[in-house]
Amino acid sequence: MLLKDKTILITGGTSTLGQAFVRKASTAGARVFFTYFNSSVVARELESCGAMGLPLDLADMRAIDAFVAEFTKKAGGLDILIHNAAAFANALIEQMTEKQWDDVLRVNLKAPFYLTRKLLPLLMQKKPSKVFMMISRTGLSGLAGAANYAASKGGLIAMTKSLAKELGRKKILVNGVNPGFMESGMTRSLSEKTLQINLEESPLKSYSDPEEVADFLVYLASDQMRQVTGQVFHFESRPF
Ligand SMILES: NC(=O)c1ccc[n+]([C@@H]2O[C@H](COP(=O)([O-])OP(=O)(O)OC[C@H]3O[C@@H](n4cnc5c(N)ncnc54)[C@H](OP(=O)(O)O)[C@@H]3O)[C@@H](O)[C@H]2O)c1
Repeated sequence: MLLKDKTILITGGTSTLGQAFVRKASTAGARVFFTYFNSSVVARELESCGAMGLPLDLADMRAIDAFVAEFTKKAGGLDILIHNAAAFANALIEQMTEKQWDDVLRVNLKAPFYLTRKLLPLLMQKKPSKVFMMISRTGLSGLAGAANYAASKGGLIAMTKSLAKELGRKKILVNGVNPGFMESGMTRSLSEKTLQINLEESPLKSYSDPEEVADFLVYLASDQMRQVTGQVFHFESRPF
């Protein structure tokens, strides 16, 4: 019961990684809240492990305001916040519209800033509390055809390191985790050729396992980890 008495909020609990984490954190004793966007059927199934799903469009800051009010009433406190939801709208720069750029940056970068700021009063009541950003190698290496997504993840890495410096004195730890190349809704949208290149570049010639990433997140969220902040961990067997 590594997470006994911990209250956790993860965005995008309906994602491939989110589902694995929600189940494992609930089994580890945490009170888990998660957000979902379109996947209401998955959300209801996921609640069978004892977690609670709440709908939220992270592109809409007014919806985040209403969500925070409802969450505060329901949860009353917060130990761990995980920014896991992510949007993508891939296109080469010649074809990428301003809307595609803005939509991805709003969900992947502005929402983590805005939600963290809104939830700070709850996070500051727990010592230590923790914030995790789910980042991607694209934020360091770039990805042709996904400049918006890569820019959002690079921004999240910089935000992780900045907030770690700002919030350390308040005993809030801020870290990033790159889960590596997983089979998920996001990677299923890539071409067969891109998938093959990614697998060939990987020394282990395999996808990253969301269950293993979720186990690692459970450890990081637990009191076993109390002094690490401003770091980015990579489940990435490909060289950068
Ligand atoms: N898959 C990979 O290979 C990979 C590699 C590196 C990093 N990552 C990162 O790891 C995290 C999890 O990835 P994943 O592949 O498991 O994700 P995924 O299966 O593609 O799911 C995306 C999640 O984001 C939510 N979402 C999308 N737009 C939203 C919006 N406007 N408002 C609120 N929620 C929204 C979705 O909610 P609904 O399903 O409810 O609509 C879903 O839960 C992401 O941050 C991703 O960038 C993934």
